[in-house]
Amino acid sequence: MKFSLLALALSCPTLHAQNSGADDDIAALVADMTTAEKYSILNGVGFATKIQLSGYYVGNEPAVERLNIPSIKMQDAAQGFRTTDERMVGEVTAWPCSLAAAGAWDVALMEDWGHALGKEHRTKGANVILGPSVNVHRVAKGGRNAEYLSGESPKLGEEMVRSYVRGVQEEGVMAVVKHFALNNQENNRNTVDSHADERTMQEVYFLPFKAAVDEGVASFMCSYNLVNGTHSCGNEDLLQRDLKDRMGFEGFVMSDWWAVHDAGYQNAGLDMDMPGDDGYFSSDNLDASDEGRIDDMATRVLTQMKKVGLLGIGDSPAKFPNLCDIPNDCDDLYFNATATSPSHSSLALSIATQSVALLKNSDSVLPITGPKTIAVVGSACDAGNNISAMLKVWDLGNYYVMGGSGRVIAADPVSIVRGLKEGAGDSITIIESTTDNLDEALTAMEGADVVVTCGATTSTEGHDRDSLLVDQDDFITSLVEASTIPSVVLLNTPGATVTSNFSGKATAVLNMFLGGQVTGTAWSNIIYGVESPSGKLPVTFLKSEDDAVEPCSENPCVYDEKLEVGWRGLIEKDVDFCFGHGLSYTEFDYDIKSNDGLKFELSVENTGKTAGREVVQLYVTYPEAEDAPPVDLKGFKKTGLLQPGQSELVQFNIDSDDLRSWSVSVGDFVTVPGDFKIEFASSSRDARATATVTI
Ligand SMILES: *[C@@H]1O[C@H](CO)[C@@H](O)[C@H](O)[C@H]1NC(C)=O
Ligand SMILES: *[C@@H]1O[C@H](CO)[C@@H](O)[C@H](O)[C@H]1NC(C)=O
Ligand SMILES: *[C@@H]1O[C@H](CO)[C@@H](O)[C@H](O)[C@H]1NC(C)=O
Ligand SMILES: *[C@@H]1O[C@H](CO)[C@@H](O)[C@H](O)[C@H]1NC(C)=O
Repeated sequence: MKFSLLALALSCPTLHAQNSGADDDIAALVADMTTAEKYSILNGVGFATKIQLSGYYVGNEPAVERLNIPSIKMQDAAQGFRTTDERMVGEVTAWPCSLAAAGAWDVALMEDWGHALGKEHRTKGANVILGPSVNVHRVAKGGRNAEYLSGESPKLGEEMVRSYVRGVQEEGVMAVVKHFALNNQENNRNTVDSHADERTMQEVYFLPFKAAVDEGVASFMCSYNLVNGTHSCGNEDLLQRDLKDRMGFEGFVMSDWWAVHDAGYQNAGLDMDMPGDDGYFSSDNLDASDEGRIDDMATRVLTQMKKVGLLGIGDSPAKFPNLCDIPNDCDDLYFNATATSPSHSSLALSIATQSVALLKNSDSVLPITGPKTIAVVGSACDAGNNISAMLKVWDLGNYYVMGGSGRVIAADPVSIVRGLKEGAGDSITIIESTTDNLDEALTAMEGADVVVTCGATTSTEGHDRDSLLVDQDDFITSLVEASTIPSVVLLNTPGATVTSNFSGKATAVLNMFLGGQVTGTAWSNIIYGVESPSGKLPVTFLKSEDDAVEPCSENPCVYDEKLEVGWRGLIEKDVDFCFGHGLSYTEFDYDIKSNDGLKFELSVENTGKTAGREVVQLYVTYPEAEDAPPVDLKGFKKTGLLQPGQSELVQFNIDSDDLRSWSVSVGDFVTVPGDFKIEFASSSRDARATATVTI
């Protein structure tokens, strides 16, 4: 009773009208806190190699023991539980990168992944995952594109972020959507000043973030870059107006690591300074004169902790009991707990397998069934995994995992050649030559029926890729030109890739974004036809690097392509493999069965000879008008596994909000009247059924 009375007293308006979603319990709790206790949950404890090694997490806020508030323990993210120490390698799953997971286009699979990520973090004692990363790819060379699960499409991002956040948070772990906003390149990431017009922000870059808000994401991370001349973390238009007021975000905003440059950021909408050693949100610097704002900041943090089940209130215990507190008792979990499991490895395998996009398959060279002799040639087929080298250099990636904070070092990743050997069975013979020496390769190919060669490259946080070619481009190009037997090219990449030097001559080309520990096993599933490929490209494979938007090297960095981001700016261009493209070992027929307003029912039939899954994509062309947005992806559905002759009824219920457009004068999305062309398609350039809806 005492608590609810206090809460009543506190629900009086404070200086700021806030929207933290606070309930009476949290209001009472905040009222009980001393100023120092409030400050302690708004400022990280700092970051130093020494602190991390003694068992702190990547980010930490101390517990308030007196009030039973557990410590907040944060760890990255993009490929699983970040391996900051040698002892963790092998204890956690080295998952495929987030872009691979998105490239499977399967919302249920993404949600399963969210649950698994949440469980691994929790097993390791963490209660915050510093993901998902959702920025829509603007710059094809973007160093963190492998983390950014939207690919080139806000709609893909919206669907994926919802599943991810739901899965993670149902496990008692707070998700942090990042990096808000316009963090579209890694070169000069602390100084680049991104300028996009309001409509472009609203219709492209904000959408996956807004979906996270709608899903109830606990936290936002503001980015390193500037937006319109002001650093994101101190940008009131961005954090207070766009995020909190317009999108209605009730959770807390934390800074990216060392992205705070002034204590005054607390008045721009920033709630938490991370990792905290810059001291801007320390008791010396936070401005307590606006007590309402300090209470709002604390309330936002505690409300989200309660919502995911981390806080016990009154007599009811926390749904997810606290497993340890920094600084004294997390070491055993952090360094010793085994968080991976056989079921997580097999989920990783499903994700990696389903993420493979079959880009070309002439003469149905794939799948390879015996009896056959396969020459496996090229160094990337036997990619190394130098653990000690990676432990020394935080941003070193390889062909399994990207570098940077999202990196999870795999203990013993399955190379492509190992996977192909393990999956070969009795009737397949493998001859290997795992160097990039053409003569050795040609020798290995004598007597072989087919040659499999591998191309790969990696990327890292902190700088963008120098090139969109795979590192073995020359070797592969010479090989496919010299080959007299069918050639299959397998690619492991961190994003958009230019394959045009070899893709014309190669018999088959396939792409898997960095696949983590199960890489070779997933390839084996695809190459031998254990599964039919069902991934689709979430990015464009360009004909030439010249077609890509380069990272800005000077300010301001003006997004003058506006809405024509990624594939939407390339519609008139010849590309190697378009957005949404991905073949199967079977064929599908589409047939619109019914249409009622914005509701469609579509029959998808497997008309080929093997089982497979299809990703049906829904593209919308707006009514013709001077300022009409370009065609866009507005929905997709992945079918279940369809046997030959089997069909599935796929429902699409187009959200009328998706057919609106941002009006700068109204300051909101507005209805666009007219006829919309609806295309159900197997890729952005392969429509199979069309309809019209009128708004
Ligand atoms: C950025 O500038 C544009 C154009 O002046 C303006 O419409 C938009 O509101 C600004 N956004 C932010 C977050 O500053
Ligand atoms: C980890 O486990 C080992 C072996 O059981 C034990 O000796 C060690 O103290 C544990 N480490 C921590 C940090 O608890
Ligand atoms: C791994 O990297 C280290 C440098 O950190 C190097 O000395 C060592 O030779 C490398 N090992 C292999 C197998 O390449
Ligand atoms: C491969 O492509 C790149 C970029 O388009 C080009 O600069 C290079 O000359 C090509 N190499 C060959 C062997 O054609």
